[in-house]
Amino acid sequence: MKEKQKIIWLTGASSGIGEALAYQWSKEGHFLILSARREEELVRVQNNCQNPKACKIFPLDLSKQTDIEAAANVVLNEFGHVDILVHNGGISQRSLVEDTIIDVDRKIMEVDYFSGVILTKKLLPSMLENKKGHIVAISSITGLFGFPLRSAYCAAKHAMHGFYETLWTEIHSKGIDVTIVCPGRISTNISLHALTKEGKPHGEIDPAQEKGMTAELCAKKIIKAVQKRKKEVYIGKTELLMVYFKRYIPFLYYKLASKIKPT
Ligand SMILES: NC(=O)c1ccc[n+]([C@@H]2O[C@H](COP(=O)([O-])OP(=O)(O)OC[C@H]3O[C@@H](n4cnc5c(N)ncnc54)[C@H](OP(=O)(O)O)[C@@H]3O)[C@@H](O)[C@H]2O)c1
Repeated sequence: MKEKQKIIWLTGASSGIGEALAYQWSKEGHFLILSARREEELVRVQNNCQNPKACKIFPLDLSKQTDIEAAANVVLNEFGHVDILVHNGGISQRSLVEDTIIDVDRKIMEVDYFSGVILTKKLLPSMLENKKGHIVAISSITGLFGFPLRSAYCAAKHAMHGFYETLWTEIHSKGIDVTIVCPGRISTNISLHALTKEGKPHGEIDPAQEKGMTAELCAKKIIKAVQKRKKEVYIGKTELLMVYFKRYIPFLYYKLASKIKPT
């Protein structure tokens, strides 16, 4: 392994932002551990990386604690440590609170929130022992305000902020960094797999999603934020204004949010 080569574990590496991160980090010469459920997609991403030999595929289901813990045990046994852990795997939602069955709320919390908590707790002891490591939590701007049809998704992303911000306060003085990333609209398949009120895939690429920032540019900005050891970063286009409206002109946020045509 080269001296500056880092071991980076990326969840959600089979498409979108995770896939784009894999290509860019591979170009920089790092060793990648790629996780998601679809093994054939992970193989495709591995083969498209600059150095497929410096990639290990680790299929897992983020809704299953046993999968996550087993994967972490194997990774720690094989590599001893992970330099950068990226909690990126996730699913979105397209359903009103009043219609959504509770299983959907639980599934989204498991995949988008608890999976990261479980994996963090598994890898943190080795990071603390080595006095180094970087945990990157891919949240969303909807982790900072409510948005129609995304109740469970917003809840999971808000929970991430509470957890990872607290984690930063506890471990930053021990040599470990935590970066919370809040993308706006990024052009990926996220809406395709978003859950409906009964937990079925939404099955459509929303037009607004398509017009979002490219996953490649988003990945570039995430990597820059990680290099600069930023605590929190917002990535997107004009939709980022909602973050500042909510914070500094809340009445404007409430006015706009209540008028948003849900998609
Ligand atoms: N696109 C946006 O506009 C946007 C905005 C804000 C935040 N984000 C966040 O960015 C992250 C990546 O999303 P994306 O936009 O790149 O969407 P994407 O292309 O749909 O990618 C989602 C990734 O998560 C994985 N995943 C989903 N459910 C999983 C499960 N149960 N177990 C393991 N892996 C699972 C998927 O792989 P498999 O299906 O192979 O398992 C896929 O690799 C998510 O956390 C999302 O919330 C996206």
